[in-house]
Amino acid sequence: MSAPLAGRRVLVTAGPTFEDLDPVRFLGNRSSGKMGFAVAAAAADAGAEVVLIAGPVHLPTPAGVHRIDVRSAAQMHAAVFAALPADVYVGAAAVADFTPAQVAPSKIKKRGGETGLELQLVRTRDILADVAAHRPRPRVVMGFAAETDDVDSHARAKRAAKDVDLLAANRVGVPGSGFESDDNQLVVHDAAGSHALGPDSKTRLATTLVAMITARLASEAP
Ligand code: PMT
Repeated sequence: MSAPLAGRRVLVTAGPTFEDLDPVRFLGNRSSGKMGFAVAAAAADAGAEVVLIAGPVHLPTPAGVHRIDVRSAAQMHAAVFAALPADVYVGAAAVADFTPAQVAPSKIKKRGGETGLELQLVRTRDILADVAAHRPRPRVVMGFAAETDDVDSHARAKRAAKDVDLLAANRVGVPGSGFESDDNQLVVHDAAGSHALGPDSKTRLATTLVAMITARLASEAP
Protein backbone atom coordinates (compact mmCIF):
# COMPACT_ATOMS: atom_id res chain seq x y z
CA MET A 1 0.00 0.00 0.00
CA SER A 2 1.38 3.44 -0.86
CA ALA A 3 2.02 5.79 2.03
CA PRO A 4 2.63 9.25 0.56
CA LEU A 5 2.19 10.91 3.96
CA ALA A 6 4.57 8.58 5.84
CA GLY A 7 6.60 10.63 8.31
CA ARG A 8 4.10 13.51 8.26
CA ARG A 9 2.13 14.65 11.30
CA VAL A 10 -1.44 15.73 10.50
CA LEU A 11 -3.70 17.51 12.97
CA VAL A 12 -7.45 17.47 12.27
CA THR A 13 -10.36 19.03 14.17
CA ALA A 14 -13.89 17.68 13.79
CA GLY A 15 -17.38 18.01 15.17
CA PRO A 16 -19.12 20.80 17.04
CA THR A 17 -18.16 22.64 20.18
CA PHE A 18 -20.57 22.93 23.09
CA GLU A 19 -20.51 26.17 25.03
CA ASP A 20 -22.02 25.70 28.47
CA LEU A 21 -24.63 28.12 29.83
CA ASP A 22 -25.17 26.29 33.11
CA PRO A 23 -24.67 22.69 34.34
CA VAL A 24 -27.49 21.38 32.08
CA ARG A 25 -27.65 23.67 29.02
CA PHE A 26 -25.25 24.62 26.26
CA LEU A 27 -25.03 26.37 22.89
CA GLY A 28 -24.05 23.90 20.16
CA ASN A 29 -24.47 23.23 16.45
CA ARG A 30 -25.42 20.40 14.12
CA SER A 31 -21.95 19.14 13.16
CA SER A 32 -21.80 15.33 13.34
CA GLY A 33 -18.03 15.10 12.91
CA LYS A 34 -18.39 12.96 9.75
CA MET A 35 -16.39 15.28 7.47
CA GLY A 36 -13.46 15.73 9.85
CA PHE A 37 -13.38 12.03 10.84
CA ALA A 38 -13.28 11.13 7.12
CA VAL A 39 -10.30 13.46 6.60
CA ALA A 40 -8.52 11.93 9.61
CA ALA A 41 -9.16 8.40 8.28
CA ALA A 42 -7.93 9.32 4.78
CA ALA A 43 -4.75 10.90 6.18
CA ALA A 44 -4.07 7.78 8.29
CA ASP A 45 -4.67 5.58 5.21
CA ALA A 46 -2.05 7.71 3.42
CA GLY A 47 0.47 6.82 6.13
CA ALA A 48 0.39 9.99 8.27
CA GLU A 49 0.60 10.15 12.04
CA VAL A 50 -2.84 11.64 12.72
CA VAL A 51 -4.09 13.48 15.79
CA LEU A 52 -7.86 14.04 15.70
CA ILE A 53 -9.27 16.63 18.09
CA ALA A 54 -12.98 15.94 18.31
CA GLY A 55 -15.85 17.89 19.78
CA PRO A 56 -18.81 15.96 21.28
CA VAL A 57 -19.78 13.41 18.58
CA HIS A 58 -20.94 9.80 18.42
CA LEU A 59 -18.47 8.33 15.95
CA PRO A 60 -15.90 5.55 16.31
CA THR A 61 -12.25 6.55 16.13
CA PRO A 62 -10.78 5.76 12.69
CA ALA A 63 -8.07 3.05 12.65
CA GLY A 64 -4.59 4.31 13.36
CA VAL A 65 -5.76 7.73 14.58
CA HIS A 66 -4.93 9.24 17.97
CA ARG A 67 -8.12 10.95 19.22
CA ILE A 68 -8.44 13.69 21.82
CA ASP A 69 -11.99 14.56 22.93
CA VAL A 70 -12.88 18.11 23.91
CA ARG A 71 -16.11 19.99 24.57
CA SER A 72 -15.72 23.76 24.18
CA ALA A 73 -13.99 26.07 21.72
CA ALA A 74 -11.50 27.06 24.44
CA GLN A 75 -10.69 23.39 25.12
CA MET A 76 -10.28 22.73 21.37
CA HIS A 77 -7.93 25.71 21.04
CA ALA A 78 -5.81 24.45 23.95
CA ALA A 79 -5.74 20.86 22.62
CA VAL A 80 -4.71 21.99 19.13
CA PHE A 81 -1.86 24.12 20.45
CA ALA A 82 -0.71 21.30 22.76
CA ALA A 83 -0.60 18.97 19.72
CA LEU A 84 1.49 21.31 17.53
CA PRO A 85 3.88 21.27 15.72
CA ALA A 86 2.41 19.48 12.73
CA ASP A 87 3.08 19.34 9.00
CA VAL A 88 -0.59 19.75 8.16
CA TYR A 89 -3.56 21.29 9.98
CA VAL A 90 -7.12 20.67 8.81
CA GLY A 91 -9.86 22.61 10.63
CA ALA A 92 -13.10 20.77 9.85
CA ALA A 93 -14.70 21.44 13.23
CA ALA A 94 -17.66 23.79 13.52
CA VAL A 95 -16.18 25.89 16.30
CA ALA A 96 -18.46 28.31 18.14
CA ASP A 97 -17.75 31.93 17.29
CA PHE A 98 -19.33 33.08 20.56
CA THR A 99 -19.48 31.64 24.06
CA PRO A 100 -21.43 32.73 27.15
CA ALA A 101 -19.61 35.48 29.06
CA GLN A 102 -20.25 33.51 32.25
CA VAL A 103 -21.26 29.92 33.00
CA ALA A 104 -23.97 29.92 35.68
CA PRO A 105 -22.86 27.66 38.56
CA SER A 106 -26.39 26.24 38.98
CA LYS A 107 -29.35 25.73 36.65
CA ILE A 108 -30.79 29.03 35.37
CA LYS A 109 -34.34 29.20 36.76
CA LYS A 110 -37.48 30.87 35.49
CA ARG A 111 -38.54 33.46 38.01
CA GLY A 112 -42.08 33.75 36.68
CA GLY A 113 -43.44 36.76 34.90
CA GLU A 114 -40.42 37.42 32.70
CA THR A 115 -40.95 37.49 28.92
CA GLY A 116 -37.41 36.64 27.88
CA LEU A 117 -33.84 36.07 28.91
CA GLU A 118 -30.82 38.00 27.69
CA LEU A 119 -27.58 36.12 27.22
CA GLN A 120 -24.27 37.91 27.03
CA LEU A 121 -21.86 36.21 24.63
CA VAL A 122 -18.21 36.93 23.98
CA ARG A 123 -16.03 36.00 20.98
CA THR A 124 -14.02 32.79 21.07
CA ARG A 125 -10.44 32.67 19.79
CA ASP A 126 -10.13 31.68 16.14
CA ILE A 127 -8.18 28.40 16.17
CA LEU A 128 -7.62 28.30 12.40
CA ALA A 129 -6.30 31.86 12.18
CA ASP A 130 -4.13 31.33 15.25
CA VAL A 131 -2.62 28.13 13.78
CA ALA A 132 -1.90 29.92 10.48
CA ALA A 133 -0.15 32.72 12.38
CA HIS A 134 1.80 30.33 14.65
CA ARG A 135 5.52 29.71 14.11
CA PRO A 136 6.62 27.12 13.15
CA ARG A 137 3.57 27.15 10.87
CA PRO A 138 2.23 23.84 9.51
CA ARG A 139 3.34 23.55 5.87
CA VAL A 140 -0.29 23.17 4.79
CA VAL A 141 -3.16 24.83 6.64
CA MET A 142 -6.63 23.91 5.42
CA GLY A 143 -9.90 25.36 6.67
CA PHE A 144 -13.54 24.79 5.86
CA ALA A 145 -16.26 27.38 5.40
CA ALA A 146 -19.87 26.60 6.21
CA GLU A 147 -22.12 29.10 4.46
CA THR A 148 -25.82 29.38 3.71
CA ASP A 149 -25.45 31.94 0.90
CA ASP A 150 -22.80 33.68 -1.23
CA VAL A 151 -20.70 30.58 -0.51
CA ASP A 152 -17.81 31.35 -2.85
CA SER A 153 -17.34 35.02 -2.04
CA HIS A 154 -17.50 34.35 1.71
CA ALA A 155 -15.06 31.46 1.30
CA ARG A 156 -12.56 33.55 -0.67
CA ALA A 157 -12.77 36.29 1.96
CA LYS A 158 -12.25 33.75 4.78
CA ARG A 159 -9.22 32.21 3.03
CA ALA A 160 -7.57 35.59 2.79
CA ALA A 161 -8.59 36.80 6.27
CA LYS A 162 -7.37 33.65 8.01
CA ASP A 163 -4.27 33.27 5.78
CA VAL A 164 -4.90 29.59 4.97
CA ASP A 165 -3.54 27.65 1.99
CA LEU A 166 -6.70 25.71 1.17
CA LEU A 167 -10.28 26.58 2.08
CA ALA A 168 -13.03 24.04 1.40
CA ALA A 169 -16.40 25.74 1.17
CA ASN A 170 -19.66 23.89 1.62
CA ARG A 171 -23.24 25.05 1.52
CA VAL A 172 -25.10 24.24 4.73
CA GLY A 173 -28.80 24.15 5.47
CA VAL A 174 -29.63 22.15 2.31
CA PRO A 175 -30.18 18.38 2.14
CA GLY A 176 -27.30 16.23 0.87
CA SER A 177 -24.44 18.52 1.89
CA GLY A 178 -22.85 20.16 4.90
CA PHE A 179 -23.93 19.22 8.41
CA GLU A 180 -24.97 15.64 9.34
CA SER A 181 -25.23 14.27 5.81
CA ASP A 182 -23.04 11.35 4.64
CA ASP A 183 -22.41 13.33 1.45
CA ASN A 184 -21.06 16.74 0.67
CA GLN A 185 -20.25 19.13 -2.16
CA LEU A 186 -17.16 21.31 -1.86
CA VAL A 187 -15.39 24.12 -3.66
CA VAL A 188 -11.74 24.19 -2.63
CA HIS A 189 -10.12 27.62 -2.93
CA ASP A 190 -6.38 28.23 -3.07
CA ALA A 191 -4.29 31.21 -4.14
CA ALA A 192 -4.54 30.16 -7.80
CA GLY A 193 -8.27 29.57 -8.08
CA SER A 194 -10.91 27.05 -7.14
CA HIS A 195 -11.81 23.38 -7.73
CA ALA A 196 -15.33 21.99 -7.41
CA LEU A 197 -15.59 18.52 -5.80
CA GLY A 198 -18.69 16.36 -5.61
CA PRO A 199 -21.45 15.83 -4.80
CA ASP A 200 -19.92 12.68 -3.36
CA SER A 201 -19.59 10.79 -0.09
CA LYS A 202 -17.59 12.52 2.64
CA THR A 203 -15.28 9.48 2.60
CA ARG A 204 -14.39 9.90 -1.09
CA LEU A 205 -14.17 13.68 -0.83
CA ALA A 206 -11.78 13.31 2.12
CA THR A 207 -9.51 11.06 0.02
CA THR A 208 -9.40 13.76 -2.67
CA LEU A 209 -8.67 16.49 -0.10
CA VAL A 210 -5.81 14.44 1.33
CA ALA A 211 -4.46 13.93 -2.20
CA MET A 212 -4.55 17.71 -2.73
CA ILE A 213 -2.70 18.23 0.55
CA THR A 214 -0.13 15.57 -0.40
CA ALA A 215 0.48 17.21 -3.77
CA ARG A 216 0.97 20.56 -2.08
CA LEU A 217 3.50 19.12 0.38
CA ALA A 218 5.37 17.42 -2.47
CA SER A 219 5.54 20.61 -4.54
CA GLU A 220 7.11 22.70 -1.79
CA ALA A 221 10.76 22.77 -0.83
CA PRO A 222 11.42 21.23 2.61
O1 PMT B 1 -19.47 17.48 10.90
P1 PMT B 1 -20.38 17.22 9.72
O2 PMT B 1 -21.81 16.96 10.14
O3 PMT B 1 -19.82 16.15 8.80
O4 PMT B 1 -20.46 18.57 8.85
C1 PMT B 1 -19.30 19.01 8.19
C2 PMT B 1 -19.13 20.52 8.35
C3 PMT B 1 -20.26 21.25 7.62
C4 PMT B 1 -19.12 20.92 9.83
C5 PMT B 1 -17.71 20.86 7.71
O5 PMT B 1 -17.71 20.48 6.37
C6 PMT B 1 -17.41 22.36 7.83
O6 PMT B 1 -17.82 23.18 7.03
N1 PMT B 1 -16.68 22.71 8.91
C7 PMT B 1 -16.40 24.13 9.26
C8 PMT B 1 -17.63 24.70 9.92
C9 PMT B 1 -17.40 26.12 10.35
O7 PMT B 1 -17.33 26.38 11.54
O8 PMT B 1 -17.24 27.00 9.40
P2 PMT B 1 -16.99 28.56 9.63
O9 PMT B 1 -17.20 29.14 8.28
O10 PMT B 1 -17.81 29.10 10.77
O11 PMT B 1 -15.47 28.63 10.07
C10 PMT B 1 -14.43 28.76 9.11
C11 PMT B 1 -13.19 28.02 9.58
O12 PMT B 1 -12.69 28.63 10.78
C12 PMT B 1 -13.39 26.55 9.88
O13 PMT B 1 -12.25 25.86 9.41
C13 PMT B 1 -13.46 26.51 11.41
O14 PMT B 1 -12.97 25.27 11.93
C14 PMT B 1 -12.55 27.65 11.79
N2 PMT B 1 -12.84 28.31 13.08
C15 PMT B 1 -13.98 29.03 13.26
C16 PMT B 1 -14.21 29.69 14.46
C17 PMT B 1 -13.24 29.57 15.50
N3 PMT B 1 -13.42 30.17 16.69
N4 PMT B 1 -12.13 28.84 15.30
C18 PMT B 1 -11.91 28.20 14.11
O15 PMT B 1 -10.89 27.53 13.94
